[in-house]
Amino acid sequence: MIRIDFSNLMQDAVGRNGLTKDDFKNIDTKKITEIIETRKYPELEFLDLHKADTSQIKELGKYASKFENFLLLGIGGSALGPRSILEALSPFHNLKNKPRVFIYDNVDPATLKNILSLIDLKKTVINIITKSGSTAETIASFMITWKILQEQSLKLEEHVIVTTDPEKGNLRKIVKDYCLMSLPIPHGVGGRYSVLSPVGLLLAEAIGISSDDMLKGAKDIHDKCMNADLWQNPAYLFSSGLYLMQQLKNKNITVIMPYADRLKSFSEWFCQLWAESLGKGGKGLTPYPSVGTTDQHSQLQLWMEGPEDKVVVFLSIEDYGVDINIPDVFQDMEGLSYLSGHSLGELIRIEQEASEIALAKNGRPGITIKLPRIDAYHLGQLFHFFEISTAVAGFLYGINPFNQPGVEEGKNLTYGMMGKKGYEEKRKDFELYRRKTKLEL
Ligand code: PA5
Repeated sequence: MIRIDFSNLMQDAVGRNGLTKDDFKNIDTKKITEIIETRKYPELEFLDLHKADTSQIKELGKYASKFENFLLLGIGGSALGPRSILEALSPFHNLKNKPRVFIYDNVDPATLKNILSLIDLKKTVINIITKSGSTAETIASFMITWKILQEQSLKLEEHVIVTTDPEKGNLRKIVKDYCLMSLPIPHGVGGRYSVLSPVGLLLAEAIGISSDDMLKGAKDIHDKCMNADLWQNPAYLFSSGLYLMQQLKNKNITVIMPYADRLKSFSEWFCQLWAESLGKGGKGLTPYPSVGTTDQHSQLQLWMEGPEDKVVVFLSIEDYGVDINIPDVFQDMEGLSYLSGHSLGELIRIEQEASEIALAKNGRPGITIKLPRIDAYHLGQLFHFFEISTAVAGFLYGINPFNQPGVEEGKNLTYGMMGKKGYEEKRKDFELYRRKTKLEL
């Protein structure tokens, strides 16, 4: 089970920048628990994902695992979760394993060209993931690959697996019209809360990672995060701690810093979840991705002595599953030989704690999440914990953590310029503003 150490949020550890127990007295856990229990938002359906039947996912995962390549088309919540599973649980995957996995989550033509030059579509299964079935970026890449499959006379129903809404949307229609393989994203589960649905779990199964282990991890932390007692509930404490840090101590930035290269993509997943869920109505906390020890040599200086506006969330790994001893060389050089007899595992763990202590000593608050190991079980637990914490933080701010109204205008302007019917006014807007805002050197 992951454990979360909140000590460095408190005044005892970090002085004037820290919180007291009394600061939490106005956190209305009763109200939050009621929102959750009554399922005030249908999007709280993500809470039930750990109970889902995975048989269909396993079946299609087994099918996909026979291919040489797995090409995932998706963006935002439909790509960041799968990528974090891939990188956390199967590092250097494509150099060692089949199917090789390519995640295309942009519309950068150079990237798609590169991917298409590396894979033979005859030996590729394409998993297109889009909950709405209408995301321009994902649909554009799907249209391109669809056409190539047709040109190569490949059977669409053998090469395409669609992950989308169970009933609605363009993609569901295409599934029906072309009898394609498909998996449902439960109706109430939104993009960034969907990693433990077929969105993340199909890829997991295709590369030999147990979806059941991931869901078991989520299940095992679930009850703890549903406890109505703030001081017994790690998700309530995480969200209210960071919320109060902003309200009372002006800490607007949440740095997430795993001490593991394998969790770099996980940081990006967290950043989307935190940013897109909480940043609305002039409220929110800015997430910042980082990785230890690497960023100790790039960002730590700012956190120690720069603006006092951050809380650093460390992810500390207890057992890396392997270790490498530092050999007894350069014995006659005192400046180096102190490392001999230790191991890389020991060094990284000590450095993590050293950064935590150094920051706390300097009055800079933090939270440390302790992971026994990076495996499917604990990753599932982390996903579920952060999703609950994020939703709860939204409730504390009094905002809806499941929508993203702020991204609509950019989408609509794009639709206008790309000629989508009904968006003619947006095209005019676009052209007007484009002319108005010319200051080019
Ligand atoms: O969290 C969200 O809802 C978004 O980030 C979506 O995941 C993203 O916009 C992609 O949406 P869709 O899965 O509908 O293509």
